[in-house]
Amino acid sequence: MKTLVVGVGGMTNGGKSTLSRSLHELMPNSCIIAQDSYFKNDSVVPVDSHGFKQYDLLDALHMDTMMSDVLSWQRDPESFMRQRGLNSEHETPSADEEVYVLIVEGFLIFNHRPLNELFYKKYFLEIPYDACKRRRSSRMYMPPDPPGYFDGHVWPMYLKNRQEMESMVSGIVFLDGLKPKEELLSAVCEDVCQEIERLREKH
Ligand SMILES: Nc1ncnc2c1ncn2[C@@H]1O[C@H](COP(=O)(O)OP(=O)(O)OP(=O)(O)O)[C@@H](O)[C@H]1O
Ligand SMILES: [Mg+2]
Repeated sequence: MKTLVVGVGGMTNGGKSTLSRSLHELMPNSCIIAQDSYFKNDSVVPVDSHGFKQYDLLDALHMDTMMSDVLSWQRDPESFMRQRGLNSEHETPSADEEVYVLIVEGFLIFNHRPLNELFYKKYFLEIPYDACKRRRSSRMYMPPDPPGYFDGHVWPMYLKNRQEMESMVSGIVFLDGLKPKEELLSAVCEDVCQEIERLREKH
């Protein structure tokens, strides 16, 4: 059995979840761990002096739990998938050659050092300010964004987090999130499929 961890990071509304889900649908023996599932309870997320909830920080997330889920997948991908109701598909008769793919997606995955070390490839979806604001305003979040939240918290934190990421990580592949979904998917898919083939052939 072989494993491969792919990181799909990016700014809010860059298209991380869309790309990750399509990749998962195309890849046999793959599953997704999404950082958004690890937000702490609203009651413990602090508020800044403008009354904005400080959600766009690693501190707002249960990163230890996320990390332990990733490691639990790494120890035994098949049982991890079974627990989540996903069936593994054996394409080859030898389980030794099977490659299991984990897609880790989220807006701060590359800012968390322990997680960062596991990625075979790190993708980062970026879009310009206007497109980001437009996409974000057409979505409904839980809890909903209060007025002024994008410019008062989301965007400034994106700039800060991005600067931190670039100072601590190398080898990030930046993707233009304005490109058609199919184009983004085929670019990533090509890389991942090549790596799967390489791993399969390696003894
Ligand atoms: N390549 C694309 N071209 C145009 N629209 C896209 C593209 N990818 C995603 N979208 C749209 O942008 C919005 C955000 O997409 P998605 O939920 O995948 O982003 P995200 O990065 O996961 O956002 P979040 O910050 O909420 O986690 C959705 O309405 C989606 O349909
Ligand atoms: Mg998402």
